[in-house]
Amino acid sequence: MKLQILLVKSCFLLPFSTAQLHDAAKSAGLQYYGTETESVSFADQAYQAVLKNTSEFGQITPGNSMKWDSIEPQPGKFSFTGGDAIAALAKVNNQLLRCHTLVWHQQLPLWVTNGTWTAESLTSALQNHITNEVNHYKGQCFAWDVVNEALNDNGTFRNSVFFRVIGQDYIKIAFEAAAAADPDVKLYYNDFGTEFPGAKSNAAQAIVKSLKAAGVKIDGVGFQAHFIVGGTPSKATQIANMGAFTALGVEVAITELDIRMTLPSTDALVTQQTKDYQSTSAACVATKGCVGITVWDFDDKYSWIPSTFPGTGDGTMFDGSVTRKEAYFGALSGLVESSGNSTNSTGETFVKSTPTSYTPSTGTNTTVAPPTLRVPTSPASSLNLPGLIPVLFLSLVFATLL
Ligand code: XIL
Repeated sequence: MKLQILLVKSCFLLPFSTAQLHDAAKSAGLQYYGTETESVSFADQAYQAVLKNTSEFGQITPGNSMKWDSIEPQPGKFSFTGGDAIAALAKVNNQLLRCHTLVWHQQLPLWVTNGTWTAESLTSALQNHITNEVNHYKGQCFAWDVVNEALNDNGTFRNSVFFRVIGQDYIKIAFEAAAAADPDVKLYYNDFGTEFPGAKSNAAQAIVKSLKAAGVKIDGVGFQAHFIVGGTPSKATQIANMGAFTALGVEVAITELDIRMTLPSTDALVTQQTKDYQSTSAACVATKGCVGITVWDFDDKYSWIPSTFPGTGDGTMFDGSVTRKEAYFGALSGLVESSGNSTNSTGETFVKSTPTSYTPSTGTNTTVAPPTLRVPTSPASSLNLPGLIPVLFLSLVFATLL
């Protein structure tokens, strides 16, 4: 494994190679590799230089500024400034925008959490919030996390104000309101602890099934993937788990990836973290229907981990000074490893996906995924050739080594 990381690392450093995360992800058949970001980093030029590099990140997600407390701090008073700033950044950088999140039990304004509600009045507030926000960002979002973290670890419904007052129907009401406001945006259920088989994953599958059975639009399931070094589910486990969701007719995505460790960092922890980033990237690539990976910020400087989980940190792929860590090369290597891209003796290149087209709000065509396609290596106009160079290089090296 170390050898493989070294190879990816040296490949990355080679002058002819432009392999970076988004390029490698696309060459491997994903739609994007992205990152969460927030306005706190806007003045940080070193950070912004990496953020706007679309070979690295082809998608961004606002960390906080589209949450209920930012968007509707007072009943019916909407404030889109923060969210608009991230949407504008995506537009200027020519990146897909994942919009996050419409209904969550955290970062709610007090008027929602402490309100005196009936099922009817809260349903109406919920619908009003969703309709206004989805309408405002119509045409700008590639996907919406409609409902976030509705489940407890044992698979029962979380006792949020929405569940207490409305019951589990609030999920259906939320998806219906989002679909009515923007029929074209992808609608996701997003959660953590659902990345491996078990009660919570089963309960998330049950949400998908019940929405589909009721004829309600749900397009995808997001796996947050806030992992702990050494506790990250294996590639095979993640593949099996994601497959259970795609079998229900939804796409899946890794939406908030970070892999924290108990500090201080050691060589052993770094090595394990590198493997964990690799296996998670590889799992998405190997899963037909996994459309992309988003990290929950790419630099330790802006990670939510140290303040949320005291004593832990170093969970992202860059070191706090915008320098790539081993974890970065692990992620890159995972994208290459599982891509299924290879060459044969007749000079044909086999790529995992049939390119199709999606037009984001930026008006730029982005090539996206499904099944296996045989493409002559030359000419290969629809392929990202610079991105494929390291893939081909590594395939050759691995073939020689094996
Ligand atoms: C986090 C943000 O990154 C923090 O800045 C904020 O203080 C708390 O929320 N799951 C989610 C994200 O869906 O919205 C959370 O983001 C991290 C956990």
